[in-house]
Amino acid sequence: MIVKDKEFVEYISASEISSRIAELGTSINSDYKDKRPLFIAILNGSFMFAADLLKEVAIPCEISFVKVASYEEMESTGNVKQLIGLNETIFNKDVIIIEDIVDTGRTITKILEEFISLGASSVEVITLLQKPASNDLGDKIKYIGFSIPEKFVLGYGLDYDGLGRNLKDIYQLKD
Ligand code: HPA
Ligand code: MG
Repeated sequence: MIVKDKEFVEYISASEISSRIAELGTSINSDYKDKRPLFIAILNGSFMFAADLLKEVAIPCEISFVKVASYEEMESTGNVKQLIGLNETIFNKDVIIIEDIVDTGRTITKILEEFISLGASSVEVITLLQKPASNDLGDKIKYIGFSIPEKFVLGYGLDYDGLGRNLKDIYQLKD
């Protein structure tokens, strides 16, 4: 399949995705059975994963959505990341951050710091995909859908230059 100017091949099918999400939902239902977690989905990439995951969550929960703005600060290297759209009280909440992919781990590390500083009683991360560059994050990511190799993927919320988020399956860049 061609998206924009690159060729992609199917990598994880919609049915593999949905059975893995059902397993993740079962884990969350049992780990949080006496709690009322606040799910925070990171837009845009996690919109489809969040929708399907939350259908498998059977315990009482709250759901909200944020974006991460990334900008270069003057006279410094590295990006500054800022959460946009966070209207919920985080203090004393059991927060579960929903990501589409953890690649370098830089974004999720910043987000974790932010929620901890806002006084969450716990913060965990669930990501649909995880790439090897973030292996050293170790137990900072509690739930992982699929660990995948260092190759570009798209579909099921993930984009290539804004395209492909609508695809039901996940595709990988062809060699
Ligand atoms: N695909 C889409 N978005 C991404 C990827 C990827 O492989 N890695 C980090 N963001
Ligand atoms: Mg993207």
